[in-house]
Amino acid sequence: MIGVFDSGLGGLSVLAAIARALPRADLLYLADTAHVPYGDKPEGFITGRVLAIGKHLADQGCDLIVVACNTATTTAIQALRDNLPGVPVVGVEPGVKPAAQASRSHHIAVLVTTATAKSQRLAQLIKQHANGTQVAVVPCPGWATHVETLQADTPALRAAVAAKIEPLVAAGVDQIVLGCTHYAFLTPLIAPLLNEQVELVDVAAAVARQVVRLSGEQTGGQARLILQATAYPERLRAALPALGLQALAERSGPAHQVTL
Ligand code: DGL
Repeated sequence: MIGVFDSGLGGLSVLAAIARALPRADLLYLADTAHVPYGDKPEGFITGRVLAIGKHLADQGCDLIVVACNTATTTAIQALRDNLPGVPVVGVEPGVKPAAQASRSHHIAVLVTTATAKSQRLAQLIKQHANGTQVAVVPCPGWATHVETLQADTPALRAAVAAKIEPLVAAGVDQIVLGCTHYAFLTPLIAPLLNEQVELVDVAAAVARQVVRLSGEQTGGQARLILQATAYPERLRAALPALGLQALAERSGPAHQVTL
């Protein structure tokens, strides 16, 4: 079974890509909704949550774990790998490398949570892969919470999104990296603000390909999707159709509450 987790609903964008790539695999999705958002929390807190969830998923029989959260990956993936040496762990990191490679204007932007913006891992990714390309790191506090509460189409959020995106486009940025899995669900708000030179970069499909490479036997599962949440499990189940994830809704039963 493949375990996938996030602070809340954002990782469902990654789960959907994995479910498309592995239609028979058994999947367990855990939303840490009692502690969402992670993006404004200190490093030690995020690491504690990641280790507790990793242990829980391994105890549930997951033999591959996907950290479907840029904040958790950039902050704590090494600690998780050290803690679970027998379980392969796939992370989700902002797509600085593909964006820098694809950029013709040599100016890209990375939309992230405050914690990811501050992480050493993001600084390292930029140092390794920017290769002369100018990288604007843009923290977007509050955006994940709008997605989490399924209020991703309010006038206030539209204005906040425009206030971040329009200056980037005006400055000649031609690749905008969705560096938080929640932001995939804001694409309908962001896309109309772009011109034809600008592309949105989402690594979900690349993460799914990596999961396929590592998963080996998982292709022979029973297409089960177990949903668990540390709070409000019924909201997790209800979010699937609300976020346009019908295929996941059909694959899953009710969501269960877990205490970690
Ligand atoms: N979805 C998460 C990410 O990819 C974090 C959102 C949050 O909890 O702040 O960074």
